[in-house]
Parts: sequence; structure tokens; C-alpha cells
Amino acid sequence: MAVASGPMAEAVTNSTQHLRDEDLYAIAAYLKTLPGSDTRSPRALKASDKVMQQGANVYSANCSACHNSDGRCINQLASSLAGNPGIQAQNA
Ligand code: HEC
Repeated sequence: MAVASGPMAEAVTNSTQHLRDEDLYAIAAYLKTLPGSDTRSPRALKASDKVMQQGANVYSANCSACHNSDGRCINQLASSLAGNPGIQAQNA
């Protein structure tokens, strides 16, 4: 499920949902001409790694109230982080 809120929700409600297919293709064509990022995905760490355990603590203390302890969405509150395609997307 995709979620937009704040100014992006206004953009979707008042503007982008009304775009015609040719406008969407033109936007996609433009975006594809832009240079990609040189940033590479970090290598995966084992769950037992100290950094992963620190991250779990940070998540538990700062994020789980809205995103649930297992990262699954809380209806009407916040989108799911677990399995979220935007978060899992590979860098180009
Ligand atoms: C007070 C509630 C709240 C807390 C705490 C919170 N979030 Fe969120 N988060 C939201 C809501 C609501 C959204 C969806 C609206 C939006 O995208 O602006 C969201 C969206 C996101 C998204 C984007 C998801 C998407 O589908 O685009 C990410 C990533 C995220 N949060 C990560 C975190 C992390 C990491 C933390 C902790 C450091 C955190 N959030 C803490 C409420 C919260």
C-alpha cells in the first residue's frame, strides 16, 4: 500500500491523480534521462551483529509506537515498513 501525507497528499489530491497517461510518460521519460546515483547498497549484516542490535534498540525506542514492533502497519496510523517496496528498492 502506498501512503502520501502532508504536502505530498495535497499534491496527489489536487494534481497528480488527474495527470493523463501522456503526462505520466513524459515525466517518466524525463526522470530516466537524469544520471543515476553512485551510492551502493550497504552489505547485509547478520542479525547477531552489534550494529544490528543497536538498530533494533533505536527502532524499538523511536519507531515501534507507530510502526509496530514487527514493522507491520497500524491501520489508520502509519504505513508498513516490513516488505515496503520503497524501502527495499535497490539503488540504481
Ligand atoms: C508518531 C508516529 C511515527 C513515528 C514515531 C515514526 N513514524 Fe515513520 N511514519 C509515520 C507515518 C504516519 C508515516 C506515513 C506518512 C508519511 O509518509 O508521511 C510514516 C512513514 C514512514 C516511512 C515511509 C514509508 C513509506 O511507505 O513511504 C518510513 C521509512 C518511516 N516512517 C520510518 C520511520 C522510522 C525509521 C522511525 C523511527 C526512527 C519512524 N518512522 C517513526 C509515523 C511515525
